[in-house]
Amino acid sequence: MAIFTVLLSWLPQALLLVLCLFFVAFLGYCLYIKHLHLKYDHIPGPPRKSFLFGHSPIFLEVMKNDGVIHDKFHEWSETYGPVYRINILHYVIIGVTCPEATKEIMMSPKYPKDKFLYKRLFNIFGVRFLGNGLVTAQNHEQWYKQRRIMDPAFSSLYLRGLMGTFNERAEVLMDQLSEEAESNTVADMLSLFNCVALDIIAKVAFGVDLNLLKYSSPFPKAIETCLKGMIYYIRDATFEYFPQNWRFINEVREACRLLRTTGAQWINERKTAIQNGEVVPRDILTQIIKSAGQEESITKEDEEFMLDNFVTFFIAGQETTANTLAFCTMELGRHPDILEKVKKEVDDVIGMNREISYDDLGNLTYLSQVLKETLRIYPTAPGTSRDLPDDMVIDGIHIPGGVTCFLSSYSAGRMEKFFKDPLKFDPDRFHPDAPKPYYCYYPFALGPRSCLGINFAQMEAKVVMAKLIQRFDFTLVPGQSFNIRDTGTLRPMSGVPCTIRHRNIT
Ligand code: HEM
Repeated sequence: MAIFTVLLSWLPQALLLVLCLFFVAFLGYCLYIKHLHLKYDHIPGPPRKSFLFGHSPIFLEVMKNDGVIHDKFHEWSETYGPVYRINILHYVIIGVTCPEATKEIMMSPKYPKDKFLYKRLFNIFGVRFLGNGLVTAQNHEQWYKQRRIMDPAFSSLYLRGLMGTFNERAEVLMDQLSEEAESNTVADMLSLFNCVALDIIAKVAFGVDLNLLKYSSPFPKAIETCLKGMIYYIRDATFEYFPQNWRFINEVREACRLLRTTGAQWINERKTAIQNGEVVPRDILTQIIKSAGQEESITKEDEEFMLDNFVTFFIAGQETTANTLAFCTMELGRHPDILEKVKKEVDDVIGMNREISYDDLGNLTYLSQVLKETLRIYPTAPGTSRDLPDDMVIDGIHIPGGVTCFLSSYSAGRMEKFFKDPLKFDPDRFHPDAPKPYYCYYPFALGPRSCLGINFAQMEAKVVMAKLIQRFDFTLVPGQSFNIRDTGTLRPMSGVPCTIRHRNIT
């Protein structure tokens, strides 16, 4: 009782002490931010909205209005030049569109993936998400080891062997479109492409038949929820402290858990098959299991690491490709002359064949140009970022080391100085004889950390688009928006609703 009375008499002093300590810490933090402002403010950039939060209120405003954050980056790169500065709390980020600097930073392993973004993708709202998987690994050795193990599942020999699956899954989509054509219903192309892309990655990477065009599944929604949660988690440091967001945050956590528990189940099934001496494919799942080390010494962290890569491939292998297909359909719908040209090429190369071969893909050169142009205006994974540990000079401006550098493929792809009349959809920019863009076009990133699935994605996109164009005429439902929805990756806001008709092939 006496102790309690003594403690109570100390309470006001203790509270005062805590308050003083908090105040001193806060003052110290503010002084540190001021120091950073003095160190980096010679780099041009938009005015800060707040001393503490820097430019982040601008981002929150864009998000609130369902805008695309990359339009802001684009506006700033046009206004402030090839290198501009952004502040968020004690982070300094520079946006770079200078081709020389883009080349130096992306092509060299000297500049690791940055802590600001990729560390925050390790987990979202306390649930492990992409962890130390291939996209997010920052440590060079750890990344390099994984990439070497994964490489065989993306070799051109292995990919050639996947043509059967690409054809077969795309045929299921054609059957579905056939039904839509016969019943005269409107097809939501984005959601159909989402299903086919997820079906393909599940089959090819993990040996699982989802058949999403026939059976409903929680996965497409879970992926969308994770991505939506991811952008709030990255762009709004205060999001999780507001009770009105807690319900959504719980949905995001549940969605992350669903993907990881599914991964654990599929990995265990494959391990059992291996243990039973069954013949298993050398697919991504087998490589993921290999990357975790030897069976007898497997630790909890190894298990988590396998799930990191499972979620990485489940998401990276589906989202961006489906969105690219949807944007491509949208642009072809808006440009009947270009669509006619692709149709002619598809008819010449594949004619009435149902099975598209690997060699056919090489002959669909105009379709390749169309897909490249789609990704110039709509880079579905719109950029990448790196840490700049040491001082460097970009476009004559001294950049003290210790900043994050953001390279926006979206912004570079829409700049007049790199692409004349940039918003015009013109596949001839990528004609084989046209000059190659110089470090201003990188929808798959460049250098060592470029997309591992680039060939996979291009093959898949060509098979699906070629079959669609071979069999159907599609018309965009009038009045739809051509805006972009920013969910970290970019997707067409409308979902690209189309009416579908069987083609009259004479
Ligand atoms: C049109 C489709 C695709 C686009 C536009 C795209 C774009 C990109 C971009 C920009 C990056 C760099 C990300 C960053 O730096 O944060 C990346 C990385 C990656 N992508 Fe893709 N991607 C596509 C399809 C795929 C597919 C189908 C797969 C797998 C089957 C895949 C697997 C990966 C992996 C594993 C990485 C990490 C590579 C590394 O750091 O070693 N991607 N992708």
